[in-house]
Amino acid sequence: MPRVVVFDETGAPDVLQIVDEPVAEPGPGEVRVKIEAVGVNRLDQLMRSGAFPRPFRLPHARLGCEGTGTIDALGPDVAGISVGDPVIITAVPAMELNGTYAEYTVVPASAVIPRPAGLDATSAAALWVAYSTAYGALVEKAGMRPGDHVLITAASSSVGLAAIQVANQIGAVPLAVTRHSAKKDALLAAGAAAVIATDQDDIVKAARAYTGEEGVEIIVDSVMGPGLAELATAAKRGGTLLTVGWLDPRPASMPMVAPLTIHRYMSFEHVLNPVVVRRMAAFLTAGLRTGALHPAIDKVFTLDEIADAHRHLEEGRQVGKIVVTI
Ligand SMILES: NC(=O)c1ccc[n+]([C@@H]2O[C@H](COP(=O)([O-])OP(=O)(O)OC[C@H]3O[C@@H](n4cnc5c(N)ncnc54)[C@H](OP(=O)(O)O)[C@@H]3O)[C@@H](O)[C@H]2O)c1
Repeated sequence: MPRVVVFDETGAPDVLQIVDEPVAEPGPGEVRVKIEAVGVNRLDQLMRSGAFPRPFRLPHARLGCEGTGTIDALGPDVAGISVGDPVIITAVPAMELNGTYAEYTVVPASAVIPRPAGLDATSAAALWVAYSTAYGALVEKAGMRPGDHVLITAASSSVGLAAIQVANQIGAVPLAVTRHSAKKDALLAAGAAAVIATDQDDIVKAARAYTGEEGVEIIVDSVMGPGLAELATAAKRGGTLLTVGWLDPRPASMPMVAPLTIHRYMSFEHVLNPVVVRRMAAFLTAGLRTGALHPAIDKVFTLDEIADAHRHLEEGRQVGKIVVTI
């Protein structure tokens, strides 16, 4: 029988267990996907550990909000897609019921896009959440333009690396922030115009120096925490601050700089909208074709190693995406 990762209680990575379960039949408007690889996300870790921002049903919760595979079965009323088509899952509306850490899952047909030709399953598993978040925040939300300076915190995260590449694809200037100067070379190789390492540099002073003391047009921040108010002072007057994550769970103080547009960005705002998903898919396909976009894989685990994959995520030393092959 097909294997599925479930957990009965929240806690450390060891709560994750693999069980055998029959496949579910897709209902009207749904497809069943035979999964080949999944990306491991912070959202998964928040849910597993008990820090998820909304209640969900336990025991026997599934996990996983992105993945890639082939269409295995079509529900009634599904058109324009065939069994065997390689796809990327763009949204898992109820992760605890249909999470992607499994051999099969069922999702709405509107929540898959064709897998770009030539993209292998491991890279495809690393694509959607990171790049749709970076693209959605920078392009759709902030209206990033060529020449804009974009300050990217947690730049070695999968979202951060995607933001560097999306900025470069548009012709903006990505300034990468890391806590560790040891990651400088990797971030320059990933396309950062400059790297600010907080074990050596002051973020605000460095960002201002790179912009002739004007400040950056856009800050995309995955960290938040008490440093947020000061980080915002790196923005130009009239700039934009996008908070996309909260890697530092301590309370964040409201920036007092003005004028500044602040967005608390969640990609769900866009990935459930088919019109925006079409734009995102077109942007990503074009970037993959030219090589401007190339998902960075930190490490690949097997399904049997799912708890190790979560432990690795929690260590926070990765550069790029953690992927699990099924
Ligand atoms: N808004 C959305 O829709 C959306 C979608 C996807 C992800 N996210 C969020 O985006 C953030 C990044 O996600 P990801 O999956 O790309 O992350 P990830 O790959 O797990 O990134 C981890 C990296 O973040 C850096 N970091 C900075 N401060 C940190 C801290 N206090 N604790 C741990 N790591 C810290 C570390 O790099 P250095 O050591 O180099 O600093 C670490 O290597 C997360 O907060 C996630 O929840 C949001």
